[in-house]
Amino acid sequence: MCEEDILCGLNKAKSESADQMTDLEKKHTPVIKAPSKVKKGEPFEVSVKVGEHMPHPNENAHYIEWIELYSGETFLARVDLVPRLAAPNVKFTVALDHAHPLIAKERCNLHGLWESFPVDIEVEE
Ligand SMILES: [Fe+2]
Repeated sequence: MCEEDILCGLNKAKSESADQMTDLEKKHTPVIKAPSKVKKGEPFEVSVKVGEHMPHPNENAHYIEWIELYSGETFLARVDLVPRLAAPNVKFTVALDHAHPLIAKERCNLHGLWESFPVDIEVEE
């Protein structure tokens, strides 16, 4: 039963193309914007937006609770959000040592956990 429950496990859109996403996927898939190349150890900005392809509701009964950023499987940062007063469109400042893809995760209080598509990033010495 769990595999059919959206609140179980990690949801991910089947296609990165918004044209081929369902409305649920458009509203929940985090979209990462980051430089394609950075210098090792130097801070840079990464933005993560939920609702890039279709706005997600932001009300007391339905909202994005948090957004997390990872480098591969390494946790980098997290932002907790409240409904109405904060928007699921955040900026992180990070510095990387290794070129693992950036991945964002978010949790909607009604529709569970969602993962972005990975964004490759080159780390120069
Ligand atoms: Fe939702």
